[in-house]
Order: sequence, then C-alpha cells, then structure tokens
Amino acid sequence: MALSDMLYWAIGIAVMQAVYCQENFIKVECDPENQGVYSQQAVLNCKVVSIKKDFQIIKMIWCKVEADKCDNKTMLTFENGKWSAEDARFSSGALEWNEKELSVSLLVQKTQVSDQGSYRFMISTDTGYEKGNTYLRVTAPYSVPVISSVPGINIEDSMPVTLTCNASGGYPPGQIHWFDQLDSNWTKSSALSTIPTQDGRFNLSSVFTTTASSSMALYKCVVVNDKMDKQRAEYQLAIGPGKQEGTKNVKAITAVFVVVGALAFGILILYVHRRRSRGECEKSVEDEEDGKALNNS
Ligand SMILES: *[C@@H]1O[C@H](CO)[C@@H](O)[C@H](O)[C@H]1NC(C)=O
Ligand SMILES: *[C@@H]1O[C@H](CO)[C@@H](O)[C@H](O)[C@H]1NC(C)=O
Ligand SMILES: *[C@@H]1O[C@H](CO)[C@@H](O)[C@H](O)[C@H]1NC(C)=O
Ligand SMILES: *[C@@H]1O[C@H](CO)[C@@H](O)[C@H](O)[C@H]1NC(C)=O
Repeated sequence: MALSDMLYWAIGIAVMQAVYCQENFIKVECDPENQGVYSQQAVLNCKVVSIKKDFQIIKMIWCKVEADKCDNKTMLTFENGKWSAEDARFSSGALEWNEKELSVSLLVQKTQVSDQGSYRFMISTDTGYEKGNTYLRVTAPYSVPVISSVPGINIEDSMPVTLTCNASGGYPPGQIHWFDQLDSNWTKSSALSTIPTQDGRFNLSSVFTTTASSSMALYKCVVVNDKMDKQRAEYQLAIGPGKQEGTKNVKAITAVFVVVGALAFGILILYVHRRRSRGECEKSVEDEEDGKALNNS
C-alpha cells in the first residue's frame, strides 16, 4: 500500500471518529419515574449532559410515548428560542445551566389519571441529537371512608347486620379491609365493588355481613391504596333498646294512637251504653214508681 493511500485511510478514520464522537458529545439522563398526584402539579425531570463542551440548542421536544412512538403526541416544542404547547396544562420548567449540564423539566398542571404513562424528551444540538424516557405515575387519594349499617338502630344480639364502607375518588383501584375491635381480620367475609368514575378514578364500596353481639360491637374498615396511603373509619353498632326516633318509631306512635283511639271509642260506647241502660233503668224505676204512685194513689 502506498503512503498516500495509508494517509488517506488514516485521515478518513480520524474524520469518522470525530463525527462519531461529536454525535456522542451529549447524553440525556431522565428520572426513571416521577410521581404525580391527581389535580396537582406534576414535574418530569431530565438532564442533558455535555461530555466535552458546551452546546447550542437547535430544537427540543417533550412528547407522550404511545406504542413506543412519539410523533402523534407532542406536548411541547422548543424552537427559535421559545416553547409552544399543544395542551395548556403542559409547560416547561425554567432551563437551568450548570457548567456543562442543562436541566429540563415538563410541568403538568391539574394532573389527570389519563396523564399517566411514558414521556420522551428529545434534543437536537450543534453537537448531536439525543433522547431520554421517563414515566409519570399518577395516584389519587381516596376520600375518608364512610360506614353505614342496616339495620341502623334497635339492633338486638345475634341479629344479622350488613355494614357498608364507601370511599370515593381514588387511583389506582384500592382494597377495603375489615377488622373488629380485637383487630381480627374479617376481609374474607366481605365483597368489594370497584366502580370507575368518568375521570378514570374509582369509587370503592365494600359490603360485610356480621352477627350483632353487644360484646363485639365495634368494626373498622381500612382503605388500602398503596403502602403510603391508608384511610380508616370505625363504626359502633347501635345495639340495645330502641331510641324513639326513625321510621320504626313513627309506626310505634301510630300504633299508640290506634290503641288509645280504640280504647277511647270503647269507653265512649260503654259510657253511652251505660247512660242508655241507666236511663232505661231510671225510666223503668220511674215507671215503676209512677206505677206504684199510680197504684198508691
Ligand atoms: C393521531 O392523533 C389523531 C388525533 O388525535 C388521531 O385521529 C390519529 O388516529 C392519531 N394517529 C395515530 C397513528 O395514533
Ligand atoms: C355506597 O356506595 C354504593 C355503590 O355506589 C351505593 O349504592 C350506596 O348507596 C352507598 N352507601 C352510602 C351510605 O353512601
Ligand atoms: C386481612 O385480610 C386480607 C384478605 O385476606 C389481606 O389482604 C390483608 O393483608 C389482611 N390484613 C391484615 C392486617 O392482616
Ligand atoms: C363516586 O362517589 C362520589 C362521591 O360519593 C359520587 O358523587 C359519584 O357519583 C360516584 N361515582 C360513581 C360512578 O358512582
């Protein structure tokens, strides 16, 4: 091989290496996962690291990845020095330079359950192009649970009682666990309904049937969303003689009126009858007396 040929190859390799290296002057590092809370602001963070020198930004894009593709769901575009957004809820955090590092962030306002998913940050610079992926996990806290019982009052010992524990507006779909006052776990005797709401969250309703006992009248339900979020409620069965309220008592009062009314009617009839019979009696006596008087006279 001639010297000129060797030189040609040497220069060729050097140029290729330079181009190759230039393509790798930047790296994008993203948080693998970011937590977002329903209706609050969520932040997705990435960092652009320059290995050898500063760089000029040509274009940046934040997009949502669907089926490993990004082209149809561009959230934010940075071009000619400014950002433009497809959806007003999405914006960019301030760009922060620190030596050769650039911190970028995607801000999501009023986070929705449907915002959960993978996002991609792409950057094109004078020293190359790079991209990174990050995941937004959305949670919504359940409301404080509410327990109700059927029957609600006048419960007697060994009567079957159905308790319902409701909690609403949470994500992801959670569980409801039941315990008695000694913390025995009754969850297996309960049935859970998970009802989706229109905005992708869930309502939970758990039904638990037990046998009333005055020595075991306190029950607890615990809503388990994830390990961090537990909501609980307690309920004391209203065991014992009825307090005079509710529909049962309306019936009882009606019954009292019926009894009192019947009694009054009876007394009236008796009185009238007594009056009439006494009248007749008096009359007959009078008649008798009249008769006697007549006889006597
Ligand atoms: C891209 O989005 C538009 C409008 O949201 C939709 O009609 C279209 O089917 C989408 N295309 C793909 C490939 O997802
Ligand atoms: C609990 O939720 C269920 C299902 O949504 C509903 O039918 C029931 O009325 C609720 N109970 C109470 C006390 O709110
Ligand atoms: C109670 O029982 C449920 C269902 O069997 C189970 O998932 C849960 O971990 C139990 N909780 C405790 C505190 O033991
Ligand atoms: C979920 O619960 C909330 C609060 O109780 C209620 O307003 C809403 O209608 C429920 N949604 C469904 C789909 O049951």
